[in-house]
Amino acid sequence: MPQTGDNKILGYEYPNMAWLAARPAARLNHINPMEEPNTMTHRNLTILGAAALAGLLSAWMAGQAFDKVPAASSASQAVERARREVRMLDDLYKTAVVLVNDHYVQDENSFAAGEWARLVFTAMKEKGWHHARLVDATGNPLNAENKPADAFEAKSVKSLLAGQTYLDEVENRDGKRFLRAMTLVPAVNQKCIICHAGYKVGDVLGGISYTLPIEE
Ligand code: HEC
Repeated sequence: MPQTGDNKILGYEYPNMAWLAARPAARLNHINPMEEPNTMTHRNLTILGAAALAGLLSAWMAGQAFDKVPAASSASQAVERARREVRMLDDLYKTAVVLVNDHYVQDENSFAAGEWARLVFTAMKEKGWHHARLVDATGNPLNAENKPADAFEAKSVKSLLAGQTYLDEVENRDGKRFLRAMTLVPAVNQKCIICHAGYKVGDVLGGISYTLPIEE
């Protein structure tokens, strides 16, 4: 389980001010043997206006440095576009859910971040967009439906618990390619722990599992 500390969240060191920290470099081990070997890149976290939130957000999003596949072929460019979409969606969902959680959660009867996520993900799916779901990594979910549901989710949740923050792979279904991706969801602050009792800030609670068609 990743360790937390004053300037160390999920294993990453932050300089003096957490909210000014650039995204740390993280070697992300892709689990898809079909992809070309990747070179490590990292990009800066956009500095958010709400300083109090941003430190937590950067912790949550820490390590979401995504490897770049060399633009060798249009097939790998299509995969890269899908990865970029995951990155954008992940920033959007996590920024929104942390804001909702911080501003509207009073106690364990409040509207839960997890319920918010499920409703938004269902709406997006029904509108014909990507599929996303919140997946449990603790083995003891508040909603049993959030257990890992297939082989990709099961193995990527194990990797999240082992310290990784992002994983993806390309899946073929009926001749179409899909990007499967999993991003880390830690307990970002004390408000999460109101309902997810027994955990501490920084513990891995789960992940968001994405399935996006790869537009060739
Ligand atoms: C008000 C109570 C409450 C708060 C606060 C809360 N959650 Fe949850 N969480 C829930 C409930 C209830 C579910 C099950 C939701 C569902 O699937 O409908 C859930 C589900 C989850 C899951 C999926 C695994 C599971 O246990 O079912 C994760 C991961 C998760 N929450 C993370 C977080 C994070 C991170 C925060 C803080 C940003 C947070 N939660 C804040 C109540 C809460």
